[in-house]
Parts: sequence; C-alpha cells; structure tokens
Amino acid sequence: MARDDIGTLSEKTEAWILPELNSIFDCDDRDDITVKAALYSLFAGGKRLRPMMMRLTSDMLGLPSSIDADVRYFAVTLEMLHTYSLIHDDLPALDNDELRRGKPTCHMEYGEGIAVLAGDLLLNKAMERLFCICEKEPGYIFASSAMAENAGVKGMLGGQSIDIASEDKEISLELLTMLQEKKTGAFIEAAVVTPYYISRKMTREESKSDKTASELRNLAAHIGLAFQIKDDILDVTSNSEILGKSTGKDARDSKATFVTLLGLEGAQKRLEDEILSIRRILAGFAGEGFDTSDYETLTDFLYNREK
Ligand code: IPE
Ligand code: IPE
Ligand code: MG
Ligand code: MG
Ligand code: MG
Repeated sequence: MARDDIGTLSEKTEAWILPELNSIFDCDDRDDITVKAALYSLFAGGKRLRPMMMRLTSDMLGLPSSIDADVRYFAVTLEMLHTYSLIHDDLPALDNDELRRGKPTCHMEYGEGIAVLAGDLLLNKAMERLFCICEKEPGYIFASSAMAENAGVKGMLGGQSIDIASEDKEISLELLTMLQEKKTGAFIEAAVVTPYYISRKMTREESKSDKTASELRNLAAHIGLAFQIKDDILDVTSNSEILGKSTGKDARDSKATFVTLLGLEGAQKRLEDEILSIRRILAGFAGEGFDTSDYETLTDFLYNREK
C-alpha cells in the first residue's frame, strides 16, 4: 500500500478529531464570549501535529481499535492544552504577537482580558476532561496525571518561564536545551507516549521500567528538539504569509534560541543530528517488527517543513 504523505496524514487527523472537538463545550455554554474565543483559537487552523502523533503511535504499535475513542479523547485534550499555551504565548505580556495560525491572535480578536480567560478556560476544561475519563477508567490515572505534569512547571509552563526569564540574557546551550525540552518537548512527549500508557493502563512505576515506554520517550525527546530547532530557524528564514505567524520576533525580543546560540548553520546542523537520532530510534522500532512508515513521513516533514 502507498505510504500516506503528510497532507493525507493531516486530513485524516483533522477528520478523526473533529467530532470530539465539536463536543468539548455544551451548547448552553457556547454563547459565552470566553468560550467563543477559545473555539476561535481551537479552529483557527493549527497543524494538529500532536493529535497526529497520537495516531502514529497507535498505528505503529498496532494498539487495539477498542481504545481508539479514548486515544482521540486524550488527543483533543492535549490539543486544548497546546492551544491554551499558544493563546498565552502570544499575549502582549509574553511574546506580543498579532498573528497565529494565519489569523489575528486571540487577544487581537477578543481583547486581552478575554484571551487570558480563554487560555484559562482551555486549561481548566482539559483538566476537567482528564478527571472525567479517570472516573470512567481508573486505569488512566497515570496517563492523565503525566499529561497534567507535562503542562506544568516540569513541562511546558516551566519552559515558558525560563524562556521569558532568559530574554536579553546569554544562556548556556545546556539551559537552552532544557528550556526547549520543557516548553515544546513536554507536550510532544505526551502525544507520543499517551496512547501506549492508556493501552497498558500503565502505572507510574511500570512506566519507569517499561522498555517500549522509554523508547517512546526517547523518540519524543528528539522529535521535540527537532521541532523547536526548526521553529527557531523558520523564525529567521521564513515569512508570515507562509508560516501563519509573524517572523523575526525572536531577534526582536532578544530570545535565546538555537539560532541565536549556534547561528543559522549551527542550528541547521543540530537539526540534522536530531533527525538522524529520530531515524535511528525508528529503525529500532522497525527492527522489533513495528510499522514506522508514517513516523518516517513525519520525520521528513520535521526536517523540510515550511510552516
Ligand atoms: C507552535 O506549535 C509552538 C511551538 C511549540 C513552536 P505548532 O507549530 O505545532 O503550532 P500549530 O498548532 O500548528 O499552530
Ligand atoms: C512557544 O514557543 C511554545 C509554547 C509553549 C507555546 P515560541 O514562542 O517559539 O512559539 P511561536 O514561535 O510563538 O509559535
Ligand atoms: Mg514564546
Ligand atoms: Mg511565541
Ligand atoms: Mg518560535
């Protein structure tokens, strides 16, 4: 069978999550302005890479179709957390951006106050959803708390915190790598491992010693770095029409990025190293008999992407 290209994988992901995205908020709540703002950003045209990675892990490992609806539920919850992180990232107090996903940012469209609330709402609703699914299936408690942790100070928020605190400062490559692993890597880790955790109803203790779980976390770590290094490169080399968000803003804000620390060529070289690591890890999965073809398509995209 022909391998799906990235466009097809994207379309399949969007169709897969759409019904679930449409049911996040009760009809009664949809007149609320903060709900409208949250939905505006959720449907603004994101690439849906994290839900896509959830599908890719399920398919690669051949996880049972009986958990597909639950994987999708977690995928939408993670997309909500990611969207919340972007709404707040764009606020004047953080990166002060006017364009996101090819549209005015949430605060440009709805005002700053409502944009703050829309981010809060998505975070709050995501947590509510994690509790709800654990009520139904207590075997998902670890997967849910791991996802919540990935959003917090050990994850995305912790990375954002170092990112903001490092503006106008020279930081070490070690700290920059840690910052990126948290701010971008943590959600990517959640995307790559959650389907496996829920398929096994895995506990925290089991997750530490399980070989496949640690291979998946290693894969996610390299995908996360490749993704953010490319994001840093595109901020310098691309333009807002293609990217759907403004460019040149890392230099404007004196951000510490792979490009500011290593230069464009150095960052490109580091991206290539990460891509090689991803391919090596995928070869390991293929050697165990898993079908890695869609993850290979994603790897090509991580390297070549223009948006
Ligand atoms: C943007 O993520 C933020 C970073 C982690 C660099 P994406 O590039 O996945 O954003 P969307 O979801 O497609 O808008
Ligand atoms: C932010 O990184 C990643 C998040 C956790 C939201 P950036 O600030 O580099 O993301 P963009 O470039 O605005 O998408
Ligand atoms: Mg930022
Ligand atoms: Mg930003
Ligand atoms: Mg960026």
